[in-house]
Amino acid sequence: MNIIIEKNYEAMSKKAAEIFSEFIENKPDCILGLATGGTPVEMYKNLIRMNKEGKVDFSKVNSINLDEYRGLSGDHDQSYRYFMNTNLFNNININKANTFVPNGLAKDIEEECKNYDERIEQIGGIDLQLLGIGNNGHIGFNEPAEFLNTKTHLTHLTEDTIQSNARFFDKIEDVPTEAITMGLGGIMKAKRIVLIASGEGKANIISKILEGKITTDIPATLLQVHPDVTIIVDEAAAKLIKQP
Ligand code: PGA
Repeated sequence: MNIIIEKNYEAMSKKAAEIFSEFIENKPDCILGLATGGTPVEMYKNLIRMNKEGKVDFSKVNSINLDEYRGLSGDHDQSYRYFMNTNLFNNININKANTFVPNGLAKDIEEECKNYDERIEQIGGIDLQLLGIGNNGHIGFNEPAEFLNTKTHLTHLTEDTIQSNARFFDKIEDVPTEAITMGLGGIMKAKRIVLIASGEGKANIISKILEGKITTDIPATLLQVHPDVTIIVDEAAAKLIKQP
C-alpha cells in the first residue's frame, strides 16, 4: 500500500482532492465510489472550488456511494443522500441522475441490495473508490464480524459505530441501528482505492491495517491484498505507524 503523510487535515484533504481531479481529467467518464462521514468534507470543498475554477469537470462522471442508513429518506438531514447533495453534488456540475446512493426507505431490502450490485456492474465497475475508516476498522458499514459479506447487504451497526455517529444526531436514540452497505467484494473490485484518515483518534487503526495481517475483526485489513491502494493521512493519524 502506498502511504502519503500530510501535515494536517487541510493538507490531507487537498492532496486527496488533487488525486481525484487528476483522475477525472484522465478519464472524464469515470465511475467514482464515494464516501460520507466527517473526514471527506474538506476534500469535497476542495473539489467544489476546483470545479468552480474550471479545473475539474464532473459532467460525465457517475458516482456510487458506499452506504445509507435504513429508515432515513433522502430528504432527512442525516441521510447520506442528503449529505452527498449538500456537501458535493448540489455544488458541482454532476448530473444527479448519475449519482447513486442506496435507498434507505426501500421496502424490499434484498431487492434493493441486488439492484445496487447490478447497477455497479452495469455502469462498468468502480474506477476510483474513496474510503474513510471507522475507529473499529469498518469500511463502508462493513463492521467487524466473524464473516464479512461480499455483496451489498443490510447490516446492524455496532455499538461503537452508533456511539461514534451520535455526534451528528440530537440524541443517541436517533442514530439508526441498521444500514445498507456495499460489501467487501464491491469495494475490493474497485480498480483503485484511496483511503483518507485524520486525527489522533485514527492513529491506532491506521497502524493496525499496515501490520501485514488480515482479520475480519478489522475489515480494513483486507485492503492490504488490493493491488492499488493509497492511504492519505495527516501526521496525527500517522503517529503510531511502525517504521519498517
Ligand atoms: P469519519 O467516519 O470520517 O466521520 O471519521 C469514517 C467512517 O466511519 O468510515
